[in-house]
Amino acid sequence: MIESPLAFSHTLLRQCVRAGDVVVDATIGHGHDTLLLAELVGPTGRVLGFDIQPQAVESTRAKLIAAGLDGRVTLFQESHEHAAARLGETQTIGAAQFNLGYLPGGDKGIVTQGSSTLRCLESLLPRLRPGGMAIFVVYYGHDGGPEEKNKLLSFVDGLDQTDFTVLQYSMRNWRSDPPFLIAIQKR
Ligand SMILES: C[S@@+](CC[C@H](N)C(=O)[O-])C[C@H]1O[C@@H](n2cnc3c(N)ncnc32)[C@H](O)[C@@H]1O
Repeated sequence: MIESPLAFSHTLLRQCVRAGDVVVDATIGHGHDTLLLAELVGPTGRVLGFDIQPQAVESTRAKLIAAGLDGRVTLFQESHEHAAARLGETQTIGAAQFNLGYLPGGDKGIVTQGSSTLRCLESLLPRLRPGGMAIFVVYYGHDGGPEEKNKLLSFVDGLDQTDFTVLQYSMRNWRSDPPFLIAIQKR
């Protein structure tokens, strides 16, 4: 079956994240991506997770504890713009995962913003190890969503192909602002 952009993001994470990696979940929400990342990095790896909403941090923490994976994850209730500063100065990462938009079941007025999303991406790109990926599942059907989408697309269009490969994965016949995926792989 053809995978949804979200399911395909997990397929890519399974391919690129190695046991022992340090990785970033830039938008933890309810923690579905965080949980997968915690499994993939294994007991010797580390996940740094970010969300500005307390209920996202609480919901993710509960999921991790229930799965017995909380010991390999550090959650920050702060903007993902701080992610690079939270990594050690020379720490590389195997992946950074972003789900843009609002928290499902939460306040639809609290959404990721193009300017901070790009600041985070720009600070994390130099940290990707070869083969590592920054992955975006782009939801843009809300207020401000098209602006964030356009900022991200014009930024990735400018990345030098000698340094990064950029993939776009989208459904041609899905209607109503369907989510799509952007994956940036360090060569
Ligand atoms: C689409 S949801 C993420 C869904 C999540 N990956 C999951 O598995 O449930 C987007 C999340 O980004 C968060 N967010 C918005 N701005 C943010 C920022 N500057 N830094 C970190 N998280 C942010 C929102 O609070 C929301 O929980």
